[in-house]
Amino acid sequence: MRTDTPPTIYRKDYAAPSYLVDTVDMGFDLTPARTLVATRIVMRRNPASSEQDIVLYGEEIELLQLRLNGKTLHARDYRLDGGILRIPRAPQDSTLEIETALRPDHNTSLMGLYVSNGNFFTQCEAEGFRKITYFPDRPDVMARYTVMLRADKKTCPVLLSNGNLIEQGELPDGRHYAKWEDPFKKPSYLFALVAGNLVCQEESFRLKSGREVLLQVWVEHGNLDKTQHAMDSLKNSIRWDEERFGLELDLDRFMIVAVGDFNMGAMENKGLNIFNTKFVLANPRIATDIDYANIEAVVGHEYFHNWTGNRVTCRDWFQLSLKEGLTVFRDQEFSADMIGTESGRAVKRIDDVRVLRQAQFPEDAGPMAHPVRPDSFVEINNFYTVTVYEKGAEVVRMYQTLLGRDGFRKGMDLYFARHDGQAVACDDFRAAMADANQRDLQQFERWYSQAGTPRVAVTMAYDAAAKTVELTLRQSCPPTPGQTEKLPFHIPVAIGLLDAKGRDIVLQAEGGKGKGAITRVLELTQAVQTFHFSGISERPVPSLLRGFSAPVVLEYSYSDAELAFLMAHDSDAFNRWEAGQRLAMRRLLTLTHAVQEARQAGHVVAVESVLNNVLQDTALTDALRITLNDKKLDPAFRELVLTLPSETMIAEQMEVIDPQAIHTARQFLRRSLAQALRSDLEAIYKANRSKGPYHPDAASSGKRALQNVVLSYLAELDDEAVHALAQKQCDNANNMTDRLAALAALTNSHAEDKQDALADFYAEFEDEALVIDKWFTLQATARTTDVDAVRALTQHLAFTLKNPNRARSLIFSFCNGNPSAFHATDGSGYAFWSEQVIALNSINPQVAARLARSLDRWRKYAPALQEKMRAALQKIADAPNLSRDVAEVVTKSLAH
Ligand code: TRP
Ligand code: ZN
Repeated sequence: MRTDTPPTIYRKDYAAPSYLVDTVDMGFDLTPARTLVATRIVMRRNPASSEQDIVLYGEEIELLQLRLNGKTLHARDYRLDGGILRIPRAPQDSTLEIETALRPDHNTSLMGLYVSNGNFFTQCEAEGFRKITYFPDRPDVMARYTVMLRADKKTCPVLLSNGNLIEQGELPDGRHYAKWEDPFKKPSYLFALVAGNLVCQEESFRLKSGREVLLQVWVEHGNLDKTQHAMDSLKNSIRWDEERFGLELDLDRFMIVAVGDFNMGAMENKGLNIFNTKFVLANPRIATDIDYANIEAVVGHEYFHNWTGNRVTCRDWFQLSLKEGLTVFRDQEFSADMIGTESGRAVKRIDDVRVLRQAQFPEDAGPMAHPVRPDSFVEINNFYTVTVYEKGAEVVRMYQTLLGRDGFRKGMDLYFARHDGQAVACDDFRAAMADANQRDLQQFERWYSQAGTPRVAVTMAYDAAAKTVELTLRQSCPPTPGQTEKLPFHIPVAIGLLDAKGRDIVLQAEGGKGKGAITRVLELTQAVQTFHFSGISERPVPSLLRGFSAPVVLEYSYSDAELAFLMAHDSDAFNRWEAGQRLAMRRLLTLTHAVQEARQAGHVVAVESVLNNVLQDTALTDALRITLNDKKLDPAFRELVLTLPSETMIAEQMEVIDPQAIHTARQFLRRSLAQALRSDLEAIYKANRSKGPYHPDAASSGKRALQNVVLSYLAELDDEAVHALAQKQCDNANNMTDRLAALAALTNSHAEDKQDALADFYAEFEDEALVIDKWFTLQATARTTDVDAVRALTQHLAFTLKNPNRARSLIFSFCNGNPSAFHATDGSGYAFWSEQVIALNSINPQVAARLARSLDRWRKYAPALQEKMRAALQKIADAPNLSRDVAEVVTKSLAH
């Protein structure tokens, strides 16, 4: 907790560490109320640094003892100030012995060493190791670790750390010990220990090389019936990295541990990945299809970090996307390959792009906008963002689009050949990609240095006599905080041209020989550039930015008819979906403006009839009906087409956001579609109902997704027949996906007994924390919910702010997932929000700072709402004991 303004750290100030560390030996005496840590650090001066002081970081720990080369240091021998311990002019070779004491049971920040449900866990990324001992806690200091754990044998029968178990045994007083050695050098952020009463599922697994490794998934007692999917995902991940990238598991033992109190998704500690239970535990009774898919993705993500993050790590935290963007790209490719089919890959791609547009585009346009490789930060925890992760993954994907799969693989191989065992920068990755392919990727650097989402505006000119097409592309990028002028990006724009029958035209680039292609990747590098195509005998419809080949906003003035045409014919599945989204967005914006006008004119009651007039044309309904009934299309794909752009996405399209009008318009369109398509929907519902035992595979989950989106449309009709249908699905479901979808339909309806359904659900799953999270979320996001209802739920026995999953399930879900209720015109949502941020601030700053971002876009609202949002932000800014995390977010929000 701070008293003065926290300093800003700049990328340009990077300096090599003054000392390098060879070995670290640690001994832990674990007790919840007082844990003692003894650390021996063998270090030597770094020839690359002119500094001669040893610089160590420490936070919220008691320093009991400090010895340098065997001699005790006294207060006069070092300086300890603001979490930095400096030993001036230390010897060339220095061995430090440090003893510290900590209180894991009082650690609610969940960084460093903490207790969750009686067990000990650590979380050291980014700067948590300094809450365990004084250390040069920065990622470019890599060392070999040996760890001795001692604890009570009854309460802590299991003692785990990184690497290999080399010794264990008994100690007096009912205690025991285990000694672990990690054969690989690593930065301190990858250190981990787990101690407690846990059980594991384990399997021996044979690598392609023939070597046998031990795989374990550790959970609390009673959860061994929920580990199989995580284990399967781990084995698939190991296999996939061998096959796709030639990367082998480098340890004899690989462990995953699940913990219920965790700030984020999971953590890639070397050989000892620690996971949020949400991304490990699954069986059909408690987990949805989305949970199953997320578990596969996160297990893959953490496993893939073993090479992209651990073997090659980051020089400093500004380079975070070096490991995160690359590893997200790898987990996206893994998930796509696991589905296998071409249409399955498209579905996965659409899902990923939806996340980008829903969360990253707004971030890139708001007060916290930052480049993929930021130039400065106050608190690094605030930069584990969708920009660093998801936009970072898009940047990596663009290399693959520009260089091809094989070229990308060559770049990866060179990257590891050059940098294994090193801490490097984003520029090193780009250089490996360029050098391995003899390509100039200078300009590509701007994807790392410039924030903001580029726009690419396209116009097409067709010359019937000459049979040529000219596509002119204009790029621009809006200003972001601290960056007003932007230079042109290097943008791969994949395009195709469709003939009147909807078939792909084979494209010859002008003057081009060689084989034609139906999709060409145009490389846009100038502000304005024209591309020519010849031999085009009719005016085509362009299919632009196929597969979403770059993280940009693509503008082209399609007619409604052209969009319907693309929806029906484009061979690029992503763009088929995209055309439907464009058409839907067009209607949604028209309807939203109609609501606003009707409201202004005082026609509150007449809004419906105004809307009905607006919806006279049936282009959208007709196009959706065709897609819905096209049996050749994957159910999963049809579900995506049927899903309208979210209220948040609509908001991003408006000059001034009007949450109530957006909500009214979107609901109206959903209800109108349900009415118009009722018989089609009912038929599809019947045809896709799940039968037989549950399987989470892509084909079956796609069917459930379609069935359940159809149910949600039918539920808009809110009549007794539909209530009965939902109730029946709720009662008969043999899996959580169908159960939850039915309960959601009831919760959003005016069904008489919906309270009973909610109560039954609670009673049945009282002991399953992850399901109770779903129960809270369902209510937080229900259309019938308001601030008072959410406030009442905070008083529920099962609610606590201390558990991040629970806080997210209710508070975050309401503030970020229920815009029309959160933005209640009286400002009551904002008042609630600021209370919760302030309460969380003193429990868990990292989680508090995430919630503090809910009003990022406050300047985009009407003045009356803006004023109330500003006041709520100011209330937080004025609160006492504000953490660095929250302070940075609200300060930047108020400033921009
Ligand atoms: N490196 C982790 C990942 O992406 C995420 C992570 C960073 C994290 N800091 C954390 C997780 C703090 C939990 C708490 O996989
Ligand atoms: Zn990661």
